[in-house]
Amino acid sequence: MGIGERRAAARIGTVADARRLARRRVPGPVWDYLEGGAGAETTRRANIEAFEQVEFRPRVAASAGTPPPDLSTTVLGTEVSMPLLLSPVGFTRMMDPAGDVAAAGAAGAAGTIMTLSSMSGHTIADVGSAATGPAWFQLYFLGGRPGAEQLVDRAQRAGYRALVVTLDTPVPGNRERDLRHGLTPPLRLDRGTITKMFPRVLPHPRWLIDAARDRFQLDLVNSTTLELDGKTMTSAEALLHWLATPARWEDFTWLREQWDGPIVAKGVLTGDDARRAVDAGAGAVIVSNHGGRQLDSVAPTLAALVEVVAAVGDRVEVLMDGGVRRGADVVKAVALGARAAMAGRAWAYGLAAAGRPGVDRVLGFLREDIERTMRLTGAATVAEIDRSLVRIPGRWEG
Ligand SMILES: Cc1cc2nc3c(=O)[nH]c(=O)nc-3n(C[C@H](O)[C@H](O)[C@H](O)COP(=O)(O)O)c2cc1C
Repeated sequence: MGIGERRAAARIGTVADARRLARRRVPGPVWDYLEGGAGAETTRRANIEAFEQVEFRPRVAASAGTPPPDLSTTVLGTEVSMPLLLSPVGFTRMMDPAGDVAAAGAAGAAGTIMTLSSMSGHTIADVGSAATGPAWFQLYFLGGRPGAEQLVDRAQRAGYRALVVTLDTPVPGNRERDLRHGLTPPLRLDRGTITKMFPRVLPHPRWLIDAARDRFQLDLVNSTTLELDGKTMTSAEALLHWLATPARWEDFTWLREQWDGPIVAKGVLTGDDARRAVDAGAGAVIVSNHGGRQLDSVAPTLAALVEVVAAVGDRVEVLMDGGVRRGADVVKAVALGARAAMAGRAWAYGLAAAGRPGVDRVLGFLREDIERTMRLTGAATVAEIDRSLVRIPGRWEG
C-alpha cells in the first residue's frame, strides 16, 4: 500500500470521484471492461436512473439524535455492520495488484461481507486467509461439474460462508466495448493481450509499473489449477467447459450435496424465477442483472426487487445489486424489502483508483451516507427502514 495510493484515496469523496480517478489510472481496455455494459447499455444506465425515480417520504422530527442510528443487521445469520455487501467482480487483479485481497481486507475492516468471484486473480485459499471478516464465494462452473466440485471444495475448506450461484451467464453478454478492443469472450487478459494493447497501456505508467511489479499476474488462477481425469486443464479448456455447462436449477440438488452452507441464487429478475430458486433450495436470492452486462433491456434491478420481494420476501432473504452509488441508494433498496444491497462497480472503482485505501474510502463514505440518510428519514434502526419511507413509480407495482 503506497503513499501514492493513500494520496489518491484522500481525493475520493464520492463514487463519482473514484470513477473519475479509476478511469485516469487504468488503460482504456481495462476501464472499458470495468465500466461497460451489454448491447446499447440501456440496462446499465437504467439501474442507476431507477434510484433517482424513488422518492423519500421522511418521518421528520422522529429521532432524538442520540444515540446515532444503528446500521447493523444480519444477512443469512451473519452480523454485518451495515446493509451493504460487496458483489463479486472478476479480473480485479488487473485493476490493481492487490485485487481481491484488498477487497477482502476492506470488507472485513468495514464489518461487512465480500463475495469472491470465480474469475479472481488471487486463489480462493489466499483470499480466504487474507479475509478478516466473513466472505462468500461466487461459483461459475469453470471446468464443468468436475471443476465446480473442486472450486466448491476449496471454498468450503477456506471457510467461505455461502455459495453464490450466478444464473444469468449462460453465455457472456454482448460487451461491445470489449469487442472493440479485440477482447472476445470468454475474456482472457494475459501478458499476450496486454502486449498487443501496449500503445493503449503506455499512457498509464503508474498502472504499468504496478502491473510489472506484480509480474503481470493477470491469469485467472481458478481456471488454471483445475483437474480433469487426473490432468490439469488449461485455462482455455476450463473456460470452454464452463460455457458448455450453464448453471441450471437441477444443479442446486447436486450443489446441496457438495456444499455445507447456504446457497444464494444470483441473477434473478422475476417473481417466477425467485419462486423456482426457493423451491430449488436457495437460502437467499440476489436480484441482479449483472450490472447491465448480460441481457440488455431487462428491468432495472430496483424495479425488479419489488416483484421479487412480493413473490418470496416472506420465505427467504432478498438482496439486490445494480446501480448502487450512494448510501441513500442502499436505504431505498432496504425500504423496498432488500435485506441488504450489494455494490460491484462502486468498490471496483475505488480499487482501480487507489488500491486497498480506495476501497476503504468508498466503503467509509457509503456508510456515512447510509447513516446520514437514516437520520434524515427518521429511521433509528435498519428494521425501521420500511416501505412507508419511499414512493415508487406506479408501473413498478405490477
Ligand atoms: C467488472 C465487473 C466484473 C464482474 N464479474 C462478475 C463475476 O465474475 N461474477 C458475477 O457473478 N458477477 C460479476 N459482475 C457483476 C456484479 O457482481 C454485480 O452484479 C454488478 O456489478 C452490480 O452492478 P453495479 O456494478 O452497478 O453495482 C461483475 C461486474 C463488473 C462491473
